[in-house]
Amino acid sequence: MTQPPKKRGRTSAYQEWMESIGVPIYEGHFVEDLRHVELGWWEERQSATAFLHLKGMDGVSEARIVEIPPGKSLPPLKMAIGELVYVLEGNGLSTVRDDVTGEEKSFEWNERALFHIPRHSVHHMSNARGDKPARLLHYNYLPVAMSVVPDPDFFFNNPYQRSIAGDLDTLFSEAQEVKNDDSLNTVRVFWSGNFFPDMGAWDKLAPFRDRGAGGTAVFMRFPNAEMGAHMSVFDPGLYKKGHRHGPGRVIVIPKGEGYSVLWKKGGEKIICPWHESSVFVPPEDWYHQHFNTGANDARYLALGPLPQFRGKGETLEDRAERQIEYPNEDVWIREKFESELAARGEKSLMPDGAYNDFDYQWEYGDDD
Ligand SMILES: [Fe+2]
Repeated sequence: MTQPPKKRGRTSAYQEWMESIGVPIYEGHFVEDLRHVELGWWEERQSATAFLHLKGMDGVSEARIVEIPPGKSLPPLKMAIGELVYVLEGNGLSTVRDDVTGEEKSFEWNERALFHIPRHSVHHMSNARGDKPARLLHYNYLPVAMSVVPDPDFFFNNPYQRSIAGDLDTLFSEAQEVKNDDSLNTVRVFWSGNFFPDMGAWDKLAPFRDRGAGGTAVFMRFPNAEMGAHMSVFDPGLYKKGHRHGPGRVIVIPKGEGYSVLWKKGGEKIICPWHESSVFVPPEDWYHQHFNTGANDARYLALGPLPQFRGKGETLEDRAERQIEYPNEDVWIREKFESELAARGEKSLMPDGAYNDFDYQWEYGDDD
């Protein structure tokens, strides 16, 4: 049995366990390309791995990069908590087994797929290719869970059994649309399921009017899990409104080129350049704002949060404090965007009206 990590100062049980693995841990605010960062060998899991411990994840969420060697399978893993898996590179096969009924469901994944592995199920992953590794980004709330139960053995291959509620074929077929009848929630449609095939091509998007730039989005739910995710899509030459909310969201880029700015109120602005497979994390209550400087639409996929980490950003009550409307923003925001575009021989496509009119409405072409 693995012993619970010894507590030292204010270091969390999760952090001590993570450090005990002996693979690279990436800190700071962003990693520009998860496909190329150095990993370390984790003998027990038979994979090359690294952890992301970016500012804003501490004590909340875990993200780790897992690489499956060419033609290999990883040892089956049963976790006591659910996790999301996003495919950075490669193709493979997952088999999820209900540990009570023995029923199994296998599904293939390709680049930019997103899937959810239910808690207490047995997950077996294989690389379908013999010529290159497959690289995945795993995301879960292990730091929260280990703050309550600090024993690693409780979470990995624990003999406790619980059936996956529901029909496996349905749960792992492509996600289904669900109308939201909660009038307090501004999200009207969710997509629910354990498998989303290619977030770079996903086209079931709805207008996301609140955040500007004429953006669209898909909001995702995973059956019998509290964790959520969403992906926003917006056009070139535009940028979203600055906003802030709770911690722990890990944002990965399925497609596009641009940058995001992160800043604590009154503090230094940090620029995170991005393209496919970049990742960054907005720390709790830090403003952040996303800019598309590429030639095509840009997509950012936000993994998380749990409901208790939603913060006030998703409610309407204190909107002015949580979101910066374009007319109120620091002029640097616009100047920086215009100079970034000029360096690429491009111009901003932000309409003048957006800077003058607090109620500026973007055209979606589907308005009643
Ligand atoms: Fe955000």
